[in-house]
Amino acid sequence: MAVDLLLGLQWGDEGKGKIVDVLTRDYDIIARFQGGPNAGHTLEFDGIKHVLRTIPSGIFHKKAMNVIGNGVVIDPVVFVKELEGLDQFNIDYKAKLIISRKAHLILPTHRLLDAASEASKGKAKIGSTLKGIGPTYMDKTGRNGMRIGDLELESWKEKYRHLADKHETMISFYNVDVQYDLDEMEVEFFEAVERLKELTFIDSEEYLNQAIKAGKTILAEGAQGSLLDIDFGTYPFVTSSNTTAAGACTGLGIAPNKVKEVYGIFKAYTTRVGSGPFPTELFDEVGAEMAKVGHEFGAVTGRPRRCGWLDLVALKYACQVNGVTQLNMMKGDVLSGFDSLQVCTAYEYKGETITHFPYNIEPENVTPIYTEFACWKEDLTKMTSAEQLPKELNEYIDFLEKELEVPIKIVSVGPDRTQTISR
Ligand code: IMP
Repeated sequence: MAVDLLLGLQWGDEGKGKIVDVLTRDYDIIARFQGGPNAGHTLEFDGIKHVLRTIPSGIFHKKAMNVIGNGVVIDPVVFVKELEGLDQFNIDYKAKLIISRKAHLILPTHRLLDAASEASKGKAKIGSTLKGIGPTYMDKTGRNGMRIGDLELESWKEKYRHLADKHETMISFYNVDVQYDLDEMEVEFFEAVERLKELTFIDSEEYLNQAIKAGKTILAEGAQGSLLDIDFGTYPFVTSSNTTAAGACTGLGIAPNKVKEVYGIFKAYTTRVGSGPFPTELFDEVGAEMAKVGHEFGAVTGRPRRCGWLDLVALKYACQVNGVTQLNMMKGDVLSGFDSLQVCTAYEYKGETITHFPYNIEPENVTPIYTEFACWKEDLTKMTSAEQLPKELNEYIDFLEKELEVPIKIVSVGPDRTQTISR
């Protein structure tokens, strides 16, 4: 019996897709538990680069069954495009992918509501991916949402109409200029729903718990990162789901005592897309260099990512909230050749030095305190074993392990499956 969790510990884009892909061969089932097409999990293998949005990263492995859990929100239009993207790989997704009846549906009007809400906020906008995530989770918690299981009802279109009409009224309340042709959007949506209905809808909590009983291994794949968690992230500049460990339990129907390993994924530096505070953000050439070398552009929106030094105050907080049992450090190769490295180990906060993540981390409240490290000069991307890692990188890793009190078991040195070093 084992359910392991794989979580991003920063503001998303830590490289979870790659690690799930690397770990997948060890699991019978890969399950997504929250978020939706705001995620973009990038996988690279055999010279091919592929981005997954809602579909679990186990889809590329022969053995694994892939489950989209009740905590996920699904946009049929995006989902069908994602399926079409898989056609080139000859994957039998009808056999390898199952969807919870309790997962919620993103309607075209949810996307419009997202756009209207963001437009109405002006400068205070969240920087949403505009995929309709927030409005869909609002309907879920407001008890108005449509679920995958509703599509099995004859009357689902009536339910749809009722909700979409309500949304249109809400859009007009925002009093902002959102141009749209709902009839056109609906043609696409209804077609996509018919394709979606060709897949298997299940009571996924039952499926997963029976699988646990039968001794199968499950990897729960998180999307976004802990600092975007609706409760523990930098609210309101967050996503609308629980991206942290507990979200895997509610998003799959798995009890906490079934969870074993919690893999925490972090980059050797920090990035963020969208708005919101980011204490270690760099506005100089060093930050620009990280963005350039690390190809830091959003997988979903293509927006440039903000870059900065590693923030250990935030990372420690994420390890604590998630109960991380082992860490995977991504993109150390990007930092090769930097003059020196800084790691934020404390904040100056209202005249005090603190080492916990406080309620307010806006620049006017928080000044990062850094420890400096020598940087490695070697190109890491061809290295294949822990013995080859340069002395400076080992010093950096040792320091992080000591501060975080969690072992760093994997060091990723490039985007490809093969560029992964175990220690
Ligand atoms: P939303 O979830 O699309 O509404 O976006 C809310 C915030 O979360 C914005 O700052 C987004 O840029 C950020 N966000 C959402 N999904 C991801 C992701 O997969 N990676 C990184 N940031 C994300």
